[in-house]
Amino acid sequence: MHEIVPGLVYAPDYLSREEQDELVADLREAVRIAPLFTPRMPRTGKEFSVRMTNCGPLGWVSDRERGYRYQSTHPETGAPWAPIPRLAQRTWDDLSPYKHPPEACLVNFYDGSARMGLHQDRDEEDFDAPVVSLSLGDSCLFRIGGTERKGSTKSFKLHSGDAMMLTGPARLAFHGVDRIMGGTSTLLPQGGRLNLTLRRVTKA
Ligand code: SIN
Ligand code: MN
Repeated sequence: MHEIVPGLVYAPDYLSREEQDELVADLREAVRIAPLFTPRMPRTGKEFSVRMTNCGPLGWVSDRERGYRYQSTHPETGAPWAPIPRLAQRTWDDLSPYKHPPEACLVNFYDGSARMGLHQDRDEEDFDAPVVSLSLGDSCLFRIGGTERKGSTKSFKLHSGDAMMLTGPARLAFHGVDRIMGGTSTLLPQGGRLNLTLRRVTKA
């Protein structure tokens, strides 16, 4: 485990292949309960290139009318989200110095052409809680900057099984995914990348 920039804790190869397979099986069940949806940007209504779902009592959603927010139900079916998978919960318990449990596990699915522009995670009430991330499937080129959009950035690869945490000085750092590196993993038979981010949403 090491810090790539202050507050970005990187734990390469955190999950074994067997653990990754278990997590993918749990996520297949989560997607059956709460199908992947395509979020839209506030105001413009432009579609994200990633599709997403959530696990846990709260889920992150976005649409044109109501923008970024957390809610307890799927935006299209109105059903509750599936529970947080065992290994996602364990990762939070292992890595996070924050004493209270996560409330949301956002699941992003990237096909070969999806990406995510630089943004901050700031829809949560308590920035003392970290954001804990797990990567599954194809590798990606991840970019991290500072707390100002204009500052310099650094990029590095995230691989299947890697865990990462944004905490302290990196909790509000701009970050994004520049590209997916197709064919770099055999975990997902159809290819692509899954990213899980565990978040504490409300003040404990
Ligand atoms: C995110 O910032 O929500 C996703 C980051 C990632 O896919 O690694
Ligand atoms: Mn983010």
